[in-house]
Amino acid sequence: MIGTGYLGATHAACMAELGYEVVGVDVDPDKVAALQSGRAPFYEPGLEDLLAPHLASGRLRFTASVEDAAAFGDVHFICVGTPQRKGEFAADTRYLDEAVDALAPHLDRPCLVVGKSTVPVGTAARLAERLAEKAACGSAAELAWNPEFLREGHAVQDTLKPDRLVVGVRSEAAEARLREVYAPLIDAEVPFLVTDFATSELVKVSANAFLSTKISFINAMAEVCEAAGADVTQLSRALSYDPRIGGLFLNAGLGFGGGCLPKDIRAFMARAGELGVDQALTFLREVDAINMRRRFKMVDLAREACGGGFLGRRVAVLGAAFKPESDDIRDSPALNVAAQVQLQGGEVTVYDPKAMDNARKMYPGLGYAESAFEAARGAHVVLHLTEWREFREIDPAELAEIVAERAIIDGRNALDSPRWRAAGWTFRALGRP
Ligand code: UDX
Repeated sequence: MIGTGYLGATHAACMAELGYEVVGVDVDPDKVAALQSGRAPFYEPGLEDLLAPHLASGRLRFTASVEDAAAFGDVHFICVGTPQRKGEFAADTRYLDEAVDALAPHLDRPCLVVGKSTVPVGTAARLAERLAEKAACGSAAELAWNPEFLREGHAVQDTLKPDRLVVGVRSEAAEARLREVYAPLIDAEVPFLVTDFATSELVKVSANAFLSTKISFINAMAEVCEAAGADVTQLSRALSYDPRIGGLFLNAGLGFGGGCLPKDIRAFMARAGELGVDQALTFLREVDAINMRRRFKMVDLAREACGGGFLGRRVAVLGAAFKPESDDIRDSPALNVAAQVQLQGGEVTVYDPKAMDNARKMYPGLGYAESAFEAARGAHVVLHLTEWREFREIDPAELAEIVAERAIIDGRNALDSPRWRAAGWTFRALGRP
């Protein structure tokens, strides 16, 4: 496993769980040391439970040496990141190139190199050439593409029980090898789809484009509901009973963030432009714009609750992670809102069950508290921005005792509004009267 971030570390542990001998490689020695000692360098439920037994049995280990991994592996999964390029929409695929360049000269026997990273369509074909050129064994080192659909917070389950497996291959040998690798999942009737390189790359980005569109669709309806005095949560529930629509990813609120959806739809638009079909994805600009507008709307509601301005007002922010069950704060809507409020003069105190360390590093200027109650002490408004279960379990009557004003805004439509109102709170939410 080359690259041991959210994807690679989880895939490494899960492959060990499926019975393989696995080596995880990373250029970051701290990450390697943490993983080798059984600690996940990020919060992912269930991951450490897999690391411990497989490290102990010796089936799984982590190293910084790519030579070691090259000598060891018959199948090399590449799991490095493809972040958004600074100042552009396009994806930065340099870490993939670097991974292939580092690995290839040490590949001296037939093997399969399998890309799992999310990439602009055409990357696999380009990397296949690069691999054949640079591999010590030449074309005996073959490339395949196998996109990953895991969700953070559910990564272990999504890897061991995926909805489907998609493999982009150029030979029967590569397909056979991947069928062998995933035999335990195929035996468990996980659909196994074999495609060409380009289709496999597109499956991933189009899945993320669809999911983003679904979220922005309901958030666009939330905007209309706000103007018309309707309730988007009731609307979404009524829509969800139509099996053609379905209720998943139809939760209106502060919208999507994280290390995948935002950058993936932008990279997809950039790639479509390069291919001369930018019109096909123009709608994703709207999807992105609707999503970003929700953050401004949240700030507007908070400002209103503060009497028209943030100066001299204390604002409690519940949540920093981009979603619950994760400590990932990449493009976090919650922190985006917190930072905007602070820039406009509010005194912001943030609390998150898992993402505090990451948030402090990225936004050292914000205030932080060790609990939801501590964050809310003396607050003029409480903003609920990441829907952790812990926040749903707060007793509104108890919290009412310590705030300056009983005003709460639910940015995730996850709190029980009658309960809050009954405890004397002014309760507002995105997309609801
Ligand atoms: C996503 C895809 O789901 C996954 O298949 C892909 O492999 C990587 O990108 P992830 O980034 O872990 O996974 O998060 P996801 O659960 O998809 O949530 C993305 C964002 O959308 C979060 O900020 C979440 O709060 C938001 N969201 C999700 C909504 O606002 N409303 C919804 O109904 C669902």
